[in-house]
Amino acid sequence: MGVRKWMKRMVILDLLLAGLLFFVHVRETAAVYTAAAGRIQENTAYCTDGNAAATDRAEMRPDAPQEAETGKKIALTFDDGPHPRYTVKLLDGLKERGVSVTFFVTGANVEKYPEIVKRMQDEGHLIGNHTYHHIQLTAANGEQFRDEIVSTNEAIREVTGEDTAYIRPPYGSWNKKYEEELNMFPVLWSVDPRDWCSDDKACIVKNTVGRIKEGDIILMHDQYPSSVAAALEIIDRLQQEGYVFVTVEELLLD
Ligand code: NI
Repeated sequence: MGVRKWMKRMVILDLLLAGLLFFVHVRETAAVYTAAAGRIQENTAYCTDGNAAATDRAEMRPDAPQEAETGKKIALTFDDGPHPRYTVKLLDGLKERGVSVTFFVTGANVEKYPEIVKRMQDEGHLIGNHTYHHIQLTAANGEQFRDEIVSTNEAIREVTGEDTAYIRPPYGSWNKKYEEELNMFPVLWSVDPRDWCSDDKACIVKNTVGRIKEGDIILMHDQYPSSVAAALEIIDRLQQEGYVFVTVEELLLD
């Protein structure tokens, strides 16, 4: 066989082989496209069916309910109490909802309403110091500063049998100089709904709910019926959004 004839055969064989490979490739590609189209169709059918899509989401998040329980923590705090009527009403509402909060009480009110302070403790709330006479601590001299805090701590201990380490200084005015000596931890706030200047429950709720984020400490006062009603509605609304109410201690230790 001459070289030219041999080369001609090789070219024909090559062409045949290439044709065969091309045919196989086309068939495989077609199969891939068909499979993909099937999947797309299947997914489309899933997504357009409301129930199927909901089931799909539930299957993807089997831990959804637990997530709410361990979810976004925030703390509600109530200053200036206890109040003989409104604090009791608040405690009833908190108990119904299984929610723990923090009360920053004045020494004078602890001595007037010890049974309410005892109830706070019995129902799992945290009790903190808010000075004895609700004074602005930075305007006081060292001796007054210490007295206001120590006498309130003593009043709380007499009722609860426990020491408190937390203080909410009135007006947020605090002097770090005494922090170590008195072994007190100041707790300020990140959200102030200004509940003391409005008796409009809806307005207080609106001012609060839209601004909340995880880790917030909300400042309220259990001195007004509108504050108590607003606080309970805030709890109901935020629980639906997956927030969990804890004491400031739990929030700060986290
Ligand atoms: Ni206050």
